[in-house]
Amino acid sequence: MKIKSHIATILQEAFIQSGIEPQGEIVIHEATKAQFGDYQYNGIMPLAKLYQTNPREIATKVASHIQTDGLIEKVEVAGAGFINIWLSDDTLSRYATKALADERIDVALTSQAQTIVVDYSGPNMAKEMHVGHLRSTIIGDALAKLFEFLGHRVIRQNHIGDWGTQFGMLVAYLEAQGVEQSGELQDLEAFYKAAKKRFDEDAHFANTAREYVVKIQQGDRHCLTLWERFIGISLNHCQEVYHKLDVSLSAQDVRAESFYNEDLPRIVTDLENAHLLQISQGAKCVFLEGDEIPVIVQKGDGGYLYATTDLAALRYRATKLKANRILYVVDARQSSHFKAVFDVAQKAGFVPQETKLEHIAFGTMMDKSGKPFKTRDGGTVKLIELLDEALIRAKEAIKERENYSQGELETLAKAVGIGAVKYADLSINRESNYIFDWDKMLSFEGNTSLYLQYAYARIQSILKKYEGDVGACEIVIGDAIEHTLVLSVLKFEDVLTKASLDATPHTISAYLYDVATDFMKFYEQNPILKEGLEKATKESRIAIASLCAKTIQLGLEILGIKVLNRL
Ligand code: ARG
Repeated sequence: MKIKSHIATILQEAFIQSGIEPQGEIVIHEATKAQFGDYQYNGIMPLAKLYQTNPREIATKVASHIQTDGLIEKVEVAGAGFINIWLSDDTLSRYATKALADERIDVALTSQAQTIVVDYSGPNMAKEMHVGHLRSTIIGDALAKLFEFLGHRVIRQNHIGDWGTQFGMLVAYLEAQGVEQSGELQDLEAFYKAAKKRFDEDAHFANTAREYVVKIQQGDRHCLTLWERFIGISLNHCQEVYHKLDVSLSAQDVRAESFYNEDLPRIVTDLENAHLLQISQGAKCVFLEGDEIPVIVQKGDGGYLYATTDLAALRYRATKLKANRILYVVDARQSSHFKAVFDVAQKAGFVPQETKLEHIAFGTMMDKSGKPFKTRDGGTVKLIELLDEALIRAKEAIKERENYSQGELETLAKAVGIGAVKYADLSINRESNYIFDWDKMLSFEGNTSLYLQYAYARIQSILKKYEGDVGACEIVIGDAIEHTLVLSVLKFEDVLTKASLDATPHTISAYLYDVATDFMKFYEQNPILKEGLEKATKESRIAIASLCAKTIQLGLEILGIKVLNRL
């Protein structure tokens, strides 16, 4: 299905035939307007100087050697030496028919499989998961699925915050409450507040809490058991959210901060040996060029920091997990942290030079009035409650449409509600802040998951009414609408490749929206099941519809969203 590379090969041949040497690799672009054809080549301009002639002349020469009896049907030289390219219906038809017969609609597995670590979710165990972790979880999960679909080896890493001074207080409070009666822990937020209140009001308790911090660090059995228990309960809360959200993170993917504890002293020694450390106000620091604030790796009292743990994690991922690419799906507000950590790790030789380190930053979730997303009294919105609300609202949005049974409505609401929460997040450029708006995300119109789920369900109902074998149908493009639609479907592989290189799920959603919109246009103009339609035309239209459905399905599945046969 690699249309772009197929075009590039044809162009390469034309260059050879015309005795002109292209500069660098031949890159084909999608045409931005219908009058520019289906694709465009714009690499002629830089050659003009070299050949001391005008670019149009070169373009014309190359174009005259382009073979136009296969994939390419027509070329035109435009403007200052652009080559506009039209593809032939015949070849597109053949490509499309072949795609229909394939489970992956002919999307190839990558020939350069990498080991990719995706660090995502990363909630803190002391507190309830909040909306910032929601974005990380949704985006990270979609990226992990995308890489897997393309044939990469993906290692998920849930870098949970399970270490630090707060745990002394929490564990002491857990003990004071009676470990068996940790019912209050049903609500982590409330538990944390209660523990903090006691800490502030009761000096004796505060002392115990401080002692416990030290004891946990020294490996005291009793305190560690309490700590493990606390983490276990908190992690269960997260697992519940993952389950509701239908994401692929499991207990096996947890690589907690504490996992790196033993390595932290070594990180400091190794930085020292690499002559990167300086003492500043008693703390061990790395000063990076251009940055006034150093990266502190060990405080004066011996304590380690978030950055120290991340250095250890980075080294582990690069050397033990042998990652070629490491992605950190974390709030944009941590960019300077990651920039510094990557910089230090590279200087210290903790990661091979060729390992790609990427902070996959995302913006803040805002409410409708444009303020950061909070509860009415300014508290953090609990994810579990947000997801429950999604189900209730989804039910409201769809219940009038058909006579669903109660069970069916529940299942649909899950797919629709969770799909909407995910899609709203994945359909915008991740780096921008985004407005969380129930009405917009649960609309049947516009670029929403419901629109796509509806398009899919609609195709399914057409396919159900068709009596023949869809798999045996042949696609024969009959008009310009079908040409556009099929061409759009055949771009799937290019789109996925681009989304995976840039780590941008919204590339996929924008594409799926285009396919669904083009399908709706096609469906309006070219009725599929109409009486009296010629057999070949009917079969081709059915096949096109089925191919569109398959594309929407695969695309949504990568984004972690379920399709529905009826809606
Ligand atoms: N626990 C961190 C937070 O809530 C996120 C962890 C991100 N991953 C990492 N390797 N630092 O902010």
